[in-house]
Amino acid sequence: MHSLARFATLLAAASSAAGLAVPLEQRSTGTCRKTKVAVIGAGVAGVTAAQALHNASISDFLLVERNDYLGGRVAHTTFGAIDGNASNPYTVELGANWVQGLGSPGGPENPIWTLAKRYGLNNTYSNYSSMLTYDQTGYVDYTDLLDDYDDMYDIAAADAGFLLSNNRQDPSARAGFSLAGWKPKKDMHAQAVEFWNWDWETAYAPEDCSFVFGITGNNLTFNQFSDANNYVWDQRGLNTFIYGEASTFLAENDPRLLLNSTVTNITYSDSGVTVTLEDGDCIEAEHAICTVSLGVLQNDVIEFSPPLPRWKVDAIESFEMGTYTKIFFQFNETFWDEEMQFLLYADPQVRGYYPVWQSLDAPGFLEGSHILFVTVVGSESYRVEQQSDEVTQAEAMAVLRSMFPNITVPEPTAFLYPRWSLEDWAFGSYSNWPVGMTLEKHQNLRANVGRLWFAGEANSAEYFGFMHGAWFEGREVASRVATVLSGTTTKKNKSKKTKQGGDHNASSWDMLRYEVLHGTTTLNEYNYENGWPVSSFVDYDSDSD
Ligand SMILES: Cc1cc2nc3c(=O)[nH]c(=O)nc-3n(C[C@H](O)[C@H](O)[C@H](O)COP(=O)(O)OP(=O)(O)OC[C@H]3O[C@@H](n4cnc5c(N)ncnc54)[C@H](O)[C@@H]3O)c2cc1C
Ligand SMILES: *[C@@H]1O[C@H](CO)[C@@H](O)[C@H](O)[C@H]1NC(C)=O
Ligand SMILES: *[C@@H]1O[C@H](CO)[C@@H](O)[C@H](O)[C@H]1NC(C)=O
Ligand SMILES: *[C@@H]1O[C@H](CO)[C@@H](O)[C@H](O)[C@H]1NC(C)=O
Ligand SMILES: *[C@@H]1O[C@H](CO)[C@@H](O)[C@H](O)[C@H]1NC(C)=O
Ligand SMILES: *[C@@H]1O[C@H](CO)[C@@H](O)[C@H](O)[C@H]1NC(C)=O
Ligand SMILES: *[C@@H]1O[C@H](CO)[C@@H](O)[C@H](O)[C@H]1NC(C)=O
Ligand SMILES: *[C@@H]1O[C@H](CO)[C@@H](O)[C@H](O)[C@H]1NC(C)=O
Ligand SMILES: *[C@@H]1O[C@H](CO)[C@@H](O)[C@H](O)[C@H]1NC(C)=O
Ligand SMILES: *[C@@H]1O[C@H](CO)[C@@H](O)[C@H](O)[C@H]1NC(C)=O
Ligand SMILES: *[C@@H]1O[C@H](CO)[C@@H](O)[C@H](O)[C@H]1NC(C)=O
Ligand SMILES: *[C@@H]1O[C@H](CO)[C@@H](O)[C@H](O)[C@H]1NC(C)=O
Repeated sequence: MHSLARFATLLAAASSAAGLAVPLEQRSTGTCRKTKVAVIGAGVAGVTAAQALHNASISDFLLVERNDYLGGRVAHTTFGAIDGNASNPYTVELGANWVQGLGSPGGPENPIWTLAKRYGLNNTYSNYSSMLTYDQTGYVDYTDLLDDYDDMYDIAAADAGFLLSNNRQDPSARAGFSLAGWKPKKDMHAQAVEFWNWDWETAYAPEDCSFVFGITGNNLTFNQFSDANNYVWDQRGLNTFIYGEASTFLAENDPRLLLNSTVTNITYSDSGVTVTLEDGDCIEAEHAICTVSLGVLQNDVIEFSPPLPRWKVDAIESFEMGTYTKIFFQFNETFWDEEMQFLLYADPQVRGYYPVWQSLDAPGFLEGSHILFVTVVGSESYRVEQQSDEVTQAEAMAVLRSMFPNITVPEPTAFLYPRWSLEDWAFGSYSNWPVGMTLEKHQNLRANVGRLWFAGEANSAEYFGFMHGAWFEGREVASRVATVLSGTTTKKNKSKKTKQGGDHNASSWDMLRYEVLHGTTTLNEYNYENGWPVSSFVDYDSDSD
């Protein structure tokens, strides 16, 4: 398919620092390679898991990745031209771009921020006040609605905190916002403001989002670390930090890193896990850590034998995989305000139609680049990702021309966008917490199935959707596996029920899981075992109960 081939090419261009992996032809064939731990996927979670194994003195692992680069959804490509020189293009990020929530002196720090600093990644604070508002008639100032939204959000955040800490039922973010007095309805300016504040982060409209976990997730990243989002524009690519960390435990041509290796089957039993690759090769491991995206799991790319149990499949099918699409343009001049970082467009008919435009020409970014990109999410992403470049470019250019009615907007000199929803190693951009998913059910997404373990962005109850969520889960699961391998946890047949029935009968190393789910999750279950190490309740007003 055209778009897939195009994206594969983009990502091939994105691969850098080759030399960490062993060439395919040097691999053994016929018999299975044996290892203690097979780590599937070399994105943030997989590389962090492998590093955590290394740190726990487990050197016998294999890191298996279908693409030919490290980073997964942290992926960049070359784009356009610097000073019109086509052999000297810019680097733009197709996937993750911001370090979200940095850290404050004396407080906890986002581990991705630690790494961004360690590798000196060029980045700039995203100033969300550096924004102008537009609609189909051109520039129109509706920034007063931003204040209305903020007033509502303060009420909604406190309300969501009350619901969580009092174990009340979780409504949709839409219902929560309406209850807090925000009803954008047919006001397309208000809809654009809502998109800017909500969908642009979650990749879903408020109708499709958990109210409590949407707001809690926001709190845990931005209140715990800091409220800043820093945009990485480093020309080496954001995955420089992943290569940097990988090089602390993988040698040049390290035979433990298998790139270009697509997993097709995972067979697991009480005695081990067999991982089969597309080319017929196989790996026999004592344990496997699967870090493929929620989208990959939902699309049955990998065949599990025996099939994953009902409690696991239910969790996989219940959580949401969103899509977030950045559409890049380079022009021969900057016809928009050179000082501004963002332009927000309210379409008169369709909510989320080419809504958030971002200038990389702004001070502190790629100054003089004349690069703009527009982001669509959700249903608009699915629509746009299935159409040709030509159609999308024409639609977006028509929007841009309506935003600048008095300017002759030139045709772009470069144009490009990825198709995340169609990539069969991602099937979307990042996960989102839907209405009706409890912490218990989310825990089932995290829990191991015997010797088969799961990690990745979606498995973080606190930081789902973020690079730091992938980092924490990769470290967490690998350290559990390391503990099992070190023999300090013995496999015993114990049957333990937690207060609300977490099911613990298979073996003592099992993570908590819930074969019988309850309507809500009691407050005492918001604990480390369920992926909730941080107490977020200290500020809650619980005497209104
Ligand atoms: C467009 C976009 C924007 C984003 N913006 C941000 C942001 O600004 N800030 C932020 O913090 N996060 C952002 N994210 C989210 C962030 O990228 C992810 O949370 C994180 O990178 C996920 O890491 P992971 O290791 O869990 O998964 P992945 O990166 O998906 O890693 C899984 C790996 O498994 C491999 N794989 C899949 N199938 C197979 C198979 N069958 N066999 C072998 N290997 C396989 C994949 O190739 C991949 O490398 C964004 C993501 C996207 C797509
Ligand atoms: C992976 O495949 C690509 C494209 O086929 C090739 O260029 C590259 O050398 C391969 N890398 C490895 C490590 O096998
Ligand atoms: C592994 O140890 C190194 C060195 O102490 C540290 O920088 C890194 O963060 C550790 N990795 C994990 C995943 O814990
Ligand atoms: C264009 O860029 C290439 C690669 O950086 C460089 O070698 C070349 O000299 C540049 N050409 C001009 C005219 O500057
Ligand atoms: C953010 O942008 C606004 C509007 O341009 C400006 O007034 C403010 O000083 C900027 N803040 C920072 C921290 O740069
Ligand atoms: C465009 O020009 C017309 C006529 O001069 C003017 O009335 C209008 O305000 C301008 N629009 C914008 C968005 O600048
Ligand atoms: C989010 O943080 C705000 C401000 O600290 C707090 O009032 C609210 O209760 C929190 N809500 C949730 C759901 O965590
Ligand atoms: C980082 O920013 C500096 C200062 O603008 C610039 O000179 C350098 O080329 C940038 N490096 C990369 C890798 O982007
Ligand atoms: C792998 O899964 C495919 C279906 O996806 C199946 O046809 C095949 O028999 C499986 N192979 C092994 C080795 O289990
Ligand atoms: C950009 O291109 C347009 C034609 O598409 C032209 O009219 C304009 O003068 C060019 N701008 C510059 C700065 O060269
Ligand atoms: C645990 O005990 C039950 C019966 O009490 C048995 O059916 C099951 O196979 C045992 N499981 C393990 C892992 O030993
Ligand atoms: C746990 O025990 C219950 C009751 O004996 C049983 O129904 C269930 O299948 C067991 N689960 C596992 C994973 O063995």
